[in-house]
Amino acid sequence: MGETELHVLAPAKINLFLHVTGRRADGYHLLQTAFRLLDRGDDIVLRLRQDGDVTRSSELAGVPPEQDLVVRAARLMQAQTGCRLGVDIAVTKRLPMGGGLGGGSSDAASVMLGLNRLWSLEVPRATLQEWALPLGADVPFFIYGQTALAEGVGEQLVPLSLPAAWYVVVEPPVSVPTPQIFASRELTRDSKPLIMSGFPAKDKLVVENDARNDLQPVACALYPPVQDALDALARFGRPRMSGSGACVFLACESESAAREVEAALADEWKVWIAASLERHPLWAWARGE
Ligand code: C5P
Repeated sequence: MGETELHVLAPAKINLFLHVTGRRADGYHLLQTAFRLLDRGDDIVLRLRQDGDVTRSSELAGVPPEQDLVVRAARLMQAQTGCRLGVDIAVTKRLPMGGGLGGGSSDAASVMLGLNRLWSLEVPRATLQEWALPLGADVPFFIYGQTALAEGVGEQLVPLSLPAAWYVVVEPPVSVPTPQIFASRELTRDSKPLIMSGFPAKDKLVVENDARNDLQPVACALYPPVQDALDALARFGRPRMSGSGACVFLACESESAAREVEAALADEWKVWIAASLERHPLWAWARGE
């Protein structure tokens, strides 16, 4: 008898830089970005059902099941594999919605990886990445499961090796809708593409020093608390926004340095610290090809 219940983490991601290099005919934007996983995330419990149903026991306020990414992820796994087992999914949200930390995408990826194990499907990682893309542009990254440079709409991934780091993350009290940011007239869509294959040393500076998020000026103009959070963190270094916002982060050299920044901001802001994660916690639940 295999496992009947799995407790899994759906980690946050941050975008160390994010350049918009173009726009496809279907409206999606071409990006170059660096994704990194953090050791904080949502908690998900998957309980095996023999009747084939997919249910979610913790409802997401206002989201019908057919739009709920974790339910869609589970139905996608059934449809792609023909598996007749079901699952009940409970999500304890710790990551903000509209936060740019990939919370919903990460939940979906962890459900796919979790069901790969719970239902004994043994789908290879690269196949799961392909299946994941229709759920959202950054779901494939979470399945990929390690620090990565991304191109395309975020689905073409190569590994990036970076030293371990601590991050201070501030959650401004706003939820930023990703489509609104990408649709803005003010968005710069013609950043010069970096050479990603081989990622020359000079371009590493983009990750470490000259990092820029092209979505940041747009989000700050539409949502002033994002700019306020950047200003608060700027007293301690060079902060940036993650994804399409609202969250902003600052890299620190040590846990103690990160804790000092957190303590200085905690009265005014929702703020926390997290360490970089080398590998997704469910890495082993998809096999290589
Ligand atoms: O794929 P995801 O659901 O995260 O994207 C939400 C919206 O953000 C898309 O519908 C699209 O409007 C915009 N988007 C984009 N280009 C990307 C990713 C997202 O235009 N690479």
